[in-house]
Amino acid sequence: LQNLWTKKPSLKTLAGPPGWLYCSASIRVTGFINKPVVTAKMPFRGKVTGGKCYVWCACGHSKKQPFCDGAHRTQAPSISPPHFTPEKDSTLMLCACKQTKNVPYCDGTHFKFTGSPL
Ligand code: FES
Repeated sequence: LQNLWTKKPSLKTLAGPPGWLYCSASIRVTGFINKPVVTAKMPFRGKVTGGKCYVWCACGHSKKQPFCDGAHRTQAPSISPPHFTPEKDSTLMLCACKQTKNVPYCDGTHFKFTGSPL
């Protein structure tokens, strides 16, 4: 198992749906099997449409962060992505460190990686 912080290869790798940006992402952890990997040490912030169902990436391997692209099936088969449907149009902070206790929302757990708030 690897537990090394490595530089992100490119923004293209990190790119999510239009309008979604990493708040501040420059590194990621790779190498865990069947455990979530830390996609970024800061949450994703983006707009969602009320009543629309979203599938949050829980494994950290998706190339369409913060949403699932099916990569967990091969990268972390024991992890199932949660679905969520916002009640109204809003801007959300979604967990990118994949360690939140309040899935899929950021609960500040990424502070343990950064050592400071946003
Ligand atoms: S790709 Fe990560 S949970 Fe599906």
